[in-house]
Amino acid sequence: MRLELKPLSPHLGLEVVGVDLSRPIDEPTRDAILDAWIRAGVLLFRGAGTSDEVHMRLSAVFGEMEPAATADMNRPDNPYLMTLAYDPEDRAPRFAQHYELDGIVRAGWLGWHWDQSFMPTIVRGAVLCMKEPSPEMGETGFIDAVAAYDRLSPEQKARIEGLEVVYEFNPDMASGQFGFPPEIRAYRPADAPPRSEKTYDFPPCVHPLVITQRETGRKVLKLSPMHARYILGLEKAESDALLNELAGVLCDDRYAYFHSWGRDDMIVWDNWRVIHSAKGVPLHCRRRAERTTIMGDYKVGRYLDPELDRDRKVKRIVD
Ligand SMILES: [Fe+2]
Repeated sequence: MRLELKPLSPHLGLEVVGVDLSRPIDEPTRDAILDAWIRAGVLLFRGAGTSDEVHMRLSAVFGEMEPAATADMNRPDNPYLMTLAYDPEDRAPRFAQHYELDGIVRAGWLGWHWDQSFMPTIVRGAVLCMKEPSPEMGETGFIDAVAAYDRLSPEQKARIEGLEVVYEFNPDMASGQFGFPPEIRAYRPADAPPRSEKTYDFPPCVHPLVITQRETGRKVLKLSPMHARYILGLEKAESDALLNELAGVLCDDRYAYFHSWGRDDMIVWDNWRVIHSAKGVPLHCRRRAERTTIMGDYKVGRYLDPELDRDRKVKRIVD
């Protein structure tokens, strides 16, 4: 196979053309895909995700798969495939809370984050496959946190070296304080069914603000604004001010790539290096995607409570 790589944006991402995913991927092709992924952070395989088999075959290029931590979203017949869907006809939706932004009430809106930042293990990546694109909106945004680190001033870089951030899961996205549009509002329709959102028990965990990209030695501004709560050891006012400042540098749409999905598009992102967000869809639009999760650990996260951390069983793939 001969790969062709086309830039997705001036800032990050490559589209991969010329790979036949309907049959096993040979070693040189696999190596070329991995190399492109490390270089670009995000890869697009346009219209290629035509079956579970193809989706899982591509995922296996990037590492071993694991079921997503939000287990009730995983498909009952295949726990490695997590369903992300919105259906206006669904009378008992998993998420009945929506968000209003720029005058549009949206389902599925998500602020900038890296996946499972509320867990001590940083998953390696994810492959999202768009089964039913929304006829309107529904874009997913990506930002390179290596380039974001490079945008910091020398003073900011020195200031954050060695700092750690406490993360906690909160299903109410409008409660996020950092890097969010200030005008966002939670919206619950008057005829919404009784709350059926699952509750999760994700104890607070801690991640460093700066990590190093293993393959290149470049530094990453490792902040996931959606679930960040505070910087360990700082007064609240100082912590809030610094997290706001850093989220402002990181979550800058001018450096983002927003993908407008076509049917069966597959995108894989490097979760150690790239943050992502979802613009959501207007409430009359249906959308369904499935995601695999690639196992991994940068060996830098931990639970805030040392008791919990001592008992943690994690497969670590980076020494
Ligand atoms: Fe995500």
